[in-house]
Amino acid sequence: MTEVVRTRAELAGRRAELTGTVAVVMTMGALHTGHESLLRAARERADHVLATIFVNPLQFGPNEDFDRYPRTLDTDLEVCRRAGVDLVFAPPRAEMYPYGEPTVRVDPGVPGGDLEGGSRPGFFEGVLTVVLKLFHLVQPDLAFFGEKDYQQLTLIRRMVRDLDVPVEIVGVPTVRESDGLALSSRNRYLSPEQRRAALLLSAALQAGVAAAEAGADGEGVLAAGHRVFADAPADVRLDYLALTNPDLEPGPENGPARLLVAAWVGDTRLIDNLAVELG
Ligand code: PAJ
Repeated sequence: MTEVVRTRAELAGRRAELTGTVAVVMTMGALHTGHESLLRAARERADHVLATIFVNPLQFGPNEDFDRYPRTLDTDLEVCRRAGVDLVFAPPRAEMYPYGEPTVRVDPGVPGGDLEGGSRPGFFEGVLTVVLKLFHLVQPDLAFFGEKDYQQLTLIRRMVRDLDVPVEIVGVPTVRESDGLALSSRNRYLSPEQRRAALLLSAALQAGVAAAEAGADGEGVLAAGHRVFADAPADVRLDYLALTNPDLEPGPENGPARLLVAAWVGDTRLIDNLAVELG
């Protein structure tokens, strides 16, 4: 049975009753099969699975989609039930931020100012702050995050390492539609035409991977990805296509690397990434 709690006091009470290992999956709701795969991976590893559902105002910029972000609690709870979640923490804003917006926040450092952080100032500060608060409130042994948000996963690993947070971080591969589009709560903003254009992201990544497999170097991989965007429809705007090492540090010449992309399709900003093997 999936139980829902709304307050930190109720959460603390239920958490104290759980014996054995506890895994947490943090979400902003609007749950889809990608979130569900995190919940199922958590179910396999831990005695108890706790999901959090909270649309975190701290990580939205003033012109971003906080107000229109989909809120679908009833169907989210159905997904949690199906995936065997024991407890859902779905706090109202005042329960997460009882003293108003926090003045003390987690600084993501230099790696948080690049890529997503470069385009969305304050984004990772908002993410890391709420993730650290939820670690304290939930006190999990394990926490599952998707590779879909690769920079987020990388920065959470660093925060846990740098600030000695006693939790094991587990990364989960990206779940995609059969045509390659990475599942995202924001895909529901797309018109049918934009949905087709959104395939450019995964297509560019796949072109980069194919180029690497054919022997291309880093420049060749990026060029192959850029060619995919060359004939993009007018309302598609590439934000970045970047090749880094697996820790998001600047370009490796050989071995494992990560190819990351962000693009606007109309008013919707989408991201994706894939592993690449160079050399
Ligand atoms: P949200 O976008 O709801 O994502 C919650 C978790 O689901 C993240 O770990 C994300 O990487 C993962 N996820 C999303 N789409 C996925 C897909 N297609 N395949 C696999 N995993 C996927 O990320 C956030 O919320 C927030 O920033 C949060 C960490 C909850 C902090 O507010």
